[in-house]
Amino acid sequence: MDDDRLEIQFIEVATAARGRGVGTQVVRELTARHPDRRLFAYSEGADKFWARLGWEPFVHPAGGYRTLFIQPAGALRNPL
Ligand SMILES: CC(C)(COP(=O)(O)OP(=O)(O)OC[C@H]1O[C@@H](n2cnc3c(N)ncnc32)[C@H](O)[C@@H]1OP(=O)(O)O)[C@@H](O)C(=O)NCCC(=O)NCCS
Repeated sequence: MDDDRLEIQFIEVATAARGRGVGTQVVRELTARHPDRRLFAYSEGADKFWARLGWEPFVHPAGGYRTLFIQPAGALRNPL
């Protein structure tokens, strides 16, 4: 998005490799690689996955939208 924010637009793990922590490891590596940027993602049917990472969910009050998940600020090198 800009110098402060980074969107994960989509993440997919090969079917045979799912449920073994690969997705979690990839997101953790991305956050480690970008310590100055706050990552976020719009969940596509994977709310539990993003929640298990400890990311904060934001549900649109009108309903019918994908849940927005944002990396906790405490994980950043310079939390705002
Ligand atoms: C979502 C996805 C990337 C997760 O990758 P993964 O390697 O299977 O995830 P992990 O093994 O690290 O799982 C971590 C936790 O998230 C949960 N989880 C994983 N995928 C999930 C999903 N689609 N929905 C709900 N929970 C999910 C796991 O059950 C696990 O929780 P647990 O420890 O309580 O069992 C993978 O399932 C995938 O490629 N799905 C299809 C594409 C997709 O839906 N992408 C998300 C777009 S936002």
